[in-house]
Amino acid sequence: MKKILVTGGGGYIGSVLVKRLLEKNYDVRVFDVLFFGEDPLKEFQKNPKFELIKGDLRNLNEFPKLFDDVYAVIHLASLSNDPSCDVDPQHTTDINYLSSIELAKLSKQHKIQRFIFASSCSVYGAREDIILDENSEKAPVSLYAKSKIDFENKLLEMIDKDFCPTIMRNGTVFGLSPRMRFDLIVNLMTKYAVTKNKIFIVGGGLNWRPLIHVDDVATSLIMAMEAPLEKVNGEIFNVGHNSMNFQVKDVADKIKKVMPSIEVEYAPSDKDNRSYRVSFDKIEKILGFMPKKSIEDGVKEIAEAIKNGKLGNIDSTNYINLKKFMELKNLPFASGGLRTRSTFLPFALPLIGEEEINEVVDTLRSGWLTTGPKTKRFEEEIKNYIGCKHAIALSSCTAALHLSLVALNVGPGDEVITTPVTFASTANVIVHQGAKPVFVDVDRKTMNIDPDKIEEKITKKTKAIIAVDLAGQPCDYDKIMKIAKKHNLPIIEDAAHAIGAEHNGKKVGIINKTTCFSFYPIKNMTTIEGGVLATDDDKLAETARIYSLHGMSRDAWQRYSSKGSAQWQTVAPGYKYNMTDVQASLGLHQIKKLDDFIYKREKYAKFYKDAFSKIKEIMIPGSIGNIKHAQHLFIIILDIDNLKISRDEFIELMRSENIGTGIHFISLHTHEYYKKTFGFEKEDFPNAAYLSDRMVSLPLYPKMGMNDLLDVINAVTKIINYSRK
Ligand SMILES: Cc1ncc(COP(=O)(O)O)c(C=O)c1O
Repeated sequence: MKKILVTGGGGYIGSVLVKRLLEKNYDVRVFDVLFFGEDPLKEFQKNPKFELIKGDLRNLNEFPKLFDDVYAVIHLASLSNDPSCDVDPQHTTDINYLSSIELAKLSKQHKIQRFIFASSCSVYGAREDIILDENSEKAPVSLYAKSKIDFENKLLEMIDKDFCPTIMRNGTVFGLSPRMRFDLIVNLMTKYAVTKNKIFIVGGGLNWRPLIHVDDVATSLIMAMEAPLEKVNGEIFNVGHNSMNFQVKDVADKIKKVMPSIEVEYAPSDKDNRSYRVSFDKIEKILGFMPKKSIEDGVKEIAEAIKNGKLGNIDSTNYINLKKFMELKNLPFASGGLRTRSTFLPFALPLIGEEEINEVVDTLRSGWLTTGPKTKRFEEEIKNYIGCKHAIALSSCTAALHLSLVALNVGPGDEVITTPVTFASTANVIVHQGAKPVFVDVDRKTMNIDPDKIEEKITKKTKAIIAVDLAGQPCDYDKIMKIAKKHNLPIIEDAAHAIGAEHNGKKVGIINKTTCFSFYPIKNMTTIEGGVLATDDDKLAETARIYSLHGMSRDAWQRYSSKGSAQWQTVAPGYKYNMTDVQASLGLHQIKKLDDFIYKREKYAKFYKDAFSKIKEIMIPGSIGNIKHAQHLFIIILDIDNLKISRDEFIELMRSENIGTGIHFISLHTHEYYKKTFGFEKEDFPNAAYLSDRMVSLPLYPKMGMNDLLDVINAVTKIINYSRK
């Protein structure tokens, strides 16, 4: 027998339809996210003709066999009813429009001709002056209705000989269903009539609605599917009957006829201003459709089901779409709730414009790919931006850190003071020089090196201090510089996160002996890989430049360009740390956009801060005050002592909501190499250890939109709410 794929087959209409299809001997495959559980489909589970695939319409690609052997698709799955759609416009668009298009496309690809879409008479909106037929102008007053119209239009565009969709615009449905709803007018009024002996009519009761019993909707869908193709291909049908356009007050009268003792009370206002009277001539004429059930029939069966306790607790959120939707939205995905996002939000993404792309293409076409004129121009741009005397463009920030140590003559037997809460390369380069990294614990509030603990670690062997501006916040250089000066130590500033930051009104890059920037893709600006060493020291700059390219006296541009000379000398055993012109091509444009990028980051960071200030299990790192933060990372500190989950579990839960996060950083003194080589214990640096177990970096980048930000906030909030001890 023919197999019918019913999306939303576990829903209010779906569960009635599935029963009817099975009775008619069809094979039925239901695809449903089962918001309301499996109970409505329980009675079919042993039926060999029934198959249930639990899944989210937004992830159709995870179900490659969904369309196998399918004769027709009846598409009911949707985020239904106006208020639910209004609370989550993105979700509405995802389900009712984008994923529905995907479903239609896949159906078409699988050569499934019959595609029946359950739309709604809501598309007519607020128009009661005329009787509306399928060709009448639509005047949607809700996102729900708009999403239905948008998909209808898309569907009609897709018609061809292999794909013959039919659109069924249902009136307002009523009646008893295995997946009952009490947020539909007749059903709700009946509930009040039975439980309170009273019904309320809001807004004067004059609004018009075409009504249709859920059984009759199921019949109409089957009729559309079974009708000769030429009658339904590309057709739209209003589903109902001309005799069933009612004003709300008429519905009350009808209920009162069934239950004469009830009181009818008029309540003043109603937010719902939909009002429409609809013609059902077409469905009657073309399909011979005639509803079998009246409002009274529906009222009687619902009243009876309530009275005999068949529906259990009728105030359960299971009976009200909006309440259920809100409940699921606030529940982590891992606990059965709704996944915050259908697509993955990466922890970080660069923002590359056409300017960068064109510049890279220009470089590739120019024939000069490696260090050359564009790298020189990029260095000039950086100097102008920062106000430093020298900017040496390099392959990475790691290279800049390493060359700083080389140029400062740090070598075997020396010690270099730094923070353990940093990326590996900050300390690795010290080891590369044969020197010893000496960690100083961090300040818990700022997460940067604690200046008050530096002096006790200075010995005769100390040669330099590498201070790291974690997350984009400059360290407390007033204090650190005082100590450095007293002990005659140079400060190397690891500003991998901090281009664009300021300290006491001075740009990072002119404060310390050398400053090292990173342009790795997740950073505030990018050159793919890349870095810059900034310094005002002529001699140091010259040494660093020579060591950056094999210790050669001339770089390739000086050797091979039209003005260059092929002669060169190796004057030191240098490294291969040069930046290429392809990388610089990106940098030339990124540096111009940097302030705008930071502005957006600031705005987003403030938005996060405001949102998270209400959650007591989230601590936001503090600032030292006299700085401009580059807002590279938005780090939160989880109060795991008051949560049932660890930081790592939090990250997993965020991932299951489809949101990427990062850790900056697991303290280096706990990493295998540093622990073994220098014999560190976790508690040697208690603040670093504390932060190390609790820090999480949330997505923060200019490419994010406001919706992304709200998704992160919602996901964090629901996970914390659900994990509170
Ligand atoms: C604090 C810190 N220092 C240095 C680096 C190294 O930067 P690069 O990848 O450009 O070598 C990073 C990279 O993430 C970093 O976070």
